[in-house]
Amino acid sequence: PAAVIVAIDGPAGTGKSSTSKSVAAKLGLGYLDTGAQYRAITWWMLNNGIDVNDATAVADAAAKPVIVSGTDPSAPTITVDGLDAAGPIRTQEVTAAVSAVSAVPEVRSLITDLQRSIAAEAPNGIVVEGRDIGSTVLPDADLKVFLTASPEARAARRSGELKGKEAADLAATREALIKRDTADSSRKTSPLAKADDAVEVDTTELTLDQVIECVVTLIEGAS
Ligand code: C5P
Repeated sequence: PAAVIVAIDGPAGTGKSSTSKSVAAKLGLGYLDTGAQYRAITWWMLNNGIDVNDATAVADAAAKPVIVSGTDPSAPTITVDGLDAAGPIRTQEVTAAVSAVSAVPEVRSLITDLQRSIAAEAPNGIVVEGRDIGSTVLPDADLKVFLTASPEARAARRSGELKGKEAADLAATREALIKRDTADSSRKTSPLAKADDAVEVDTTELTLDQVIECVVTLIEGAS
């Protein structure tokens, strides 16, 4: 059978990563976390003294870091210039800076090219999760899913993923999530958006297993 390409988009805290990884593992597909790539380039900018709010400086530096994503859903990896970035890209510092970096068109164009080549090379197909995968990166995907959930559910899920001090403040988590979604949805270049032909799944009242089941059924129907 031909390689199946699945795009899973939606705001933060809707269960994109957990769902995409499990679906890919179940069906023997690759898995690509595109948010991790934007986080990785942001981490590099912060480490190299680039002012993330200076779009020109970010654009000028965008091609310098070498970002490599490993697409095994049971052990996804991300490196920047050969350094393991999986841990550091999840800090609050990177989370707070990523929307500014990901809004820069030069950054998007480089990362989009990288994503397209990774998807094209996946032998059995791939599940790609992000914000603009169905709308911009892979418009010909076999299936496009757009996950949503209430702000309360999203903040609670994200809070559960954070550790210790960061998990304590649910209200702050909710506020930071909404701020990031607003920035991601309102940027000029390929904003967070549901593609016209995407299937919307509201996960507020669903368990992770139910969402996985739903997406697997959609893929079986699409391929
Ligand atoms: O999915 P995650 O929350 O890790 O994404 C981090 C950030 O990366 C998002 O807030 C957004 O700014 C950016 N992003 C994007 N396009 C994608 C995936 C992520 O702009 N396809």
